[in-house]
Amino acid sequence: MLHGTCFIHCVHHQNFIFIFLAQALSLTVAGVGFREPTPSTLHPSLSVKIGGYEIPKGSIVYVNVWAVARDPAVWKDLLEFRPERFLEEDVDMKGHDYRLLSFGAGRRICPGAQLAINLVTSMLGHLLHHFTWSPPAGVNPEDIDLTESPGTVTYMKNPIQAIPTLRLPAHLYERVPVDM
Ligand code: HEM
Repeated sequence: MLHGTCFIHCVHHQNFIFIFLAQALSLTVAGVGFREPTPSTLHPSLSVKIGGYEIPKGSIVYVNVWAVARDPAVWKDLLEFRPERFLEEDVDMKGHDYRLLSFGAGRRICPGAQLAINLVTSMLGHLLHHFTWSPPAGVNPEDIDLTESPGTVTYMKNPIQAIPTLRLPAHLYERVPVDM
């Protein structure tokens, strides 16, 4: 895992935050039903045979992205939160690499993918730069409950509490009035 000085040193680099996002998206369940990150759906306009299965025209096929993200044939130490893996090898997140399909792929790929990546990277960068985060008093990091509550949109079963502490000089948090 990444430790203290390396993290502080690297956190200024957007790429470094990006790999955290990639690792989080590959491991988390974002939505719909049966325990995969938001599934990609395919609607074949012709009957086809894939992997020995007849898929009739007009079927709705759910791609089990959750299972792909946990396939030991394509991921090493797959359940380990190890963002460095995305530095060690180039994994495209926008539909060109079928190992990571958080935004789907093909013609129905998420059109908001780049916006989402930019926003989450920026937000995460600000939250890490401005605050030190810790669990509530008396709770060890390894005791934090990460159980999910699957559904159309997947929430945490028990909300996570994280306590922010300012890590920059106090005057930098003051609101500066801006004349519009
Ligand atoms: C981390 C954030 C996001 C994730 C993980 C995500 C994921 C996805 C996935 C998996 C799909 C289905 C793709 C497929 O069927 O192959 C999708 C579709 C879609 N997403 Fe996102 N998305 C995110 C953010 C956004 C944002 C910010 C926007 C708009 C500003 C957006 C707009 C859409 C739209 C309009 C579709 C439907 C596209 C279609 O059916 O043709 N998404 N998204």
